[in-house]
Amino acid sequence: TLPRIYVTRQIPPEGLKILRESGQVQFELWNSDDIPVPRKELLQKVKGVDGLLCTLTEKIDAELLDAAGPNLKVLSTMSVGFDHLSLDELKKRGIRIGYTPEVLTDAVAELTVALLLATSRRLIEATHEAKTGGWGTWRTLWLCGYELANSTVGILGLGRIGVAIAERLAPFKVKKFIYTDVAPRPELASVINAEYVSFDELAKQSDFLAVCCALTPETKEICNKNLFSKMKKTSIFINTSRGGVVNQEDLYEALSTGQIAGAGLDVTVPEPLPTNHPLFTLKNCVILPHIASASYTTRDAMSSLAANNLLLGLRGQPMIKELKL
Ligand code: GLV
Ligand code: GLV
Repeated sequence: TLPRIYVTRQIPPEGLKILRESGQVQFELWNSDDIPVPRKELLQKVKGVDGLLCTLTEKIDAELLDAAGPNLKVLSTMSVGFDHLSLDELKKRGIRIGYTPEVLTDAVAELTVALLLATSRRLIEATHEAKTGGWGTWRTLWLCGYELANSTVGILGLGRIGVAIAERLAPFKVKKFIYTDVAPRPELASVINAEYVSFDELAKQSDFLAVCCALTPETKEICNKNLFSKMKKTSIFINTSRGGVVNQEDLYEALSTGQIAGAGLDVTVPEPLPTNHPLFTLKNCVILPHIASASYTTRDAMSSLAANNLLLGLRGQPMIKELKL
């Protein structure tokens, strides 16, 4: 009999087609709605499966792996992020992990630039004013923001995405790119002429600070009052990585007291962020519902890559993108 796999979410049809046409697996798909599978149902459905294809909305922890049992050999997540996976537990059980870096880099970088400009030039506030009668007359200082020309852009966590963001921002006449990371990354940095600085210098010098690091125990809430208090009053904070890297209470404080000028967030804790959350009351905070990789092309590519990783893993072959522990 063919290996059994469970697909935890509706994924773009490309990936399902690959699974179906492979003739290599029998698969079941959580199919009721375009919402995450309820945990209880998931724990039932994974019993005895050989492979699992998930997204970032499923927590893959010891409980789930125990429910799946010893047949489970391959996990494929349709995401570049892996903070929803208990890596220790997966490693302990010898389960291989596929994920989807690189195919989403362009889409995430584009969205990050869009969010940065929407925040720095106050686009959301401006359309709201125009629509709701605030546009009394042209005014000399009304809705003024901050420009990229001659600015210093700081990148917290320099990876492919950080580089792709900087490449797109450079034509806006950015003066200088700086970055920090656990160690200098000269090869990536040379692509964008970025200077390695300390965390404190990143905070102090950046006019725009873009968070591009993975969420790990080391980066959890690394953006807290220590960071915000060192930033310029005119600086813009942008996060398209994971909400968990930010202490949101400290960010609220920094935004509401004018310690920094604005923030653009594609990611929050929790997701969705409750509509009554204090951050939603701030004009200088632009919040998007985790859409950085949401282009048709990219989501198709992520779906296909996740399916191919899974099939390769089940055959005992190297995956296209495998997370090595
Ligand atoms: C999206 O956030 C991803 O990790 O792919
Ligand atoms: C994602 O692809 C990254 O490593 O930046």
